[in-house]
Amino acid sequence: MSETINLFTPLKGKLNLKNRIVMAPMTRCRAIGNLANPLIATYYAQRSTAGLIITEGVAPSPNGLGYARIPGIFSPEQTESWKTVTQAVHAAGGQLFMQLMHTGRVGHSANLPAGAQLLAPSAINADSPMWTDTQGMQTTETPKAMTADEIKATIEEFAQAAANAIEAGFDGVELHGANGYLLEQFLNAGTNQRTDEYGGSIENRARFVIETARAVVERIGADKTAIRLSPYNTFNNMPAYDDTAALYDYLATELNKLELAYLHLIDYASRATEEGRALLQSIRTSFKPALILNAGYTKERGNLALANNEADLISFGTPFIANPDLLHRLANDIELAQPDTNTFYTADAAGFTDYPAAV
Ligand SMILES: Cc1cc2nc3c(=O)[nH]c(=O)nc-3n(C[C@H](O)[C@H](O)[C@H](O)COP(=O)(O)O)c2cc1C
Repeated sequence: MSETINLFTPLKGKLNLKNRIVMAPMTRCRAIGNLANPLIATYYAQRSTAGLIITEGVAPSPNGLGYARIPGIFSPEQTESWKTVTQAVHAAGGQLFMQLMHTGRVGHSANLPAGAQLLAPSAINADSPMWTDTQGMQTTETPKAMTADEIKATIEEFAQAAANAIEAGFDGVELHGANGYLLEQFLNAGTNQRTDEYGGSIENRARFVIETARAVVERIGADKTAIRLSPYNTFNNMPAYDDTAALYDYLATELNKLELAYLHLIDYASRATEEGRALLQSIRTSFKPALILNAGYTKERGNLALANNEADLISFGTPFIANPDLLHRLANDIELAQPDTNTFYTADAAGFTDYPAAV
C-alpha cells in the first residue's frame, strides 16, 4: 500500500514542491505606483514555508490595471521592482508564481494610467462598485469591445509580461482565468456577445484563453505556465449561462494538450450542484498535470481531498493573511488567527506584514 498523501507530502514531478499547501493569489493593494516594494517582499518571504506562493494579480498591460494600487509587470521599472520579492522568497526557501491578472471590464478610468482603456470582449458594464483613490467609490464603466488587433496585442502583452516575470526571477506564471476578469469575460456567454471567431460557440469563446496560454507557453515554456479557472463563477456580476459544463470540459481538454504546470480550480460553485460535481471529476480525468483545488479548505478537508485523489495540491487564501506561519499552525493544530477585513486592501504595513507567527 502506498502511503496516504496529505498536505505535508512533497510533490514530485515537473513541479517539485516541499509540501502541497499553496498560498492562493490575493490582491492586497500595497503596490504604490503599480510597483512591487520591500514591504511586499517581506509579506511573501514571511509566507515562504508554503510549497508554492502565487502572488496577487499583476497586470500584464496598462489596460489591465482596473483596481487602485495593484502592481504591473509590463514596464522595465516594474520588472526590476519584483526582483526584491523573488530574491526574498527564494532566500527563505520558497517558490513563487506570479498571477497575471488583466481586469478587463472590471475597472474604472480613474485607476488607469494615461492612455489606457477598459477593454472587454463586448461593451457590457460589470455594474460593480469600484474604489478609486482619487474619486472615492465609483461604479465600473462600460468597456470598449476589443477589435481583432486589440485581441492580438493583448495576447502579446500576456506573453511579454510572462517573459518579464521570468526575468524578474519568478518560477512561473499563473494566468487569471477566474473570478470574472478578462479571460473569463471571453468564456462567459453573457459577457461575450461577439460575432467573430472569439464569440458564439464553445470553441470560439475558449479561443482567447487558449491562444493566450499557448503564446505564454511558447515564450516561457509549458513547465512555467499555469492557469486559474472558476466554473459557475458569479463574482463581478458574471451571469449564469447554459453550456458552462461543456465549455469547461472542452477547455480542460485543450489546456491538457499544452502540458501546463498546473490548473488551479476554484471549486465552491461547482460543488454546489450535481452537474458541477460531475464537471470537477471530468476535469480531474482530462487534465493530467497537477490540479490545485481552492476555496474554503481546512486542514481536514484538504487532507481528505488529497487522500481521495481529487487534487494534487490545495490552496489557502484568507488563512494565509493572518497566519504567516500557516504551515506550522496546521502541522501542530495551533488555532488560526482571524484576519481583519478592514485592512485587506489598505495601503500600508498594518494588516499586511504585522501578523505575528505563533509562539
Ligand atoms: C483579499 C483577497 C484578495 C484576493 N485577490 C485575488 C486575486 O488577485 N486573484 C485571484 O485569483 N483570487 C483572489 N482572491 C481569491 C482567493 O485567491 C481565494 O480564491 C479565496 O480567498 C477563497 O479561498 P480561501 O477560502 O482559502 O480564502 C482574493 C481573496 C481575498 C480574500
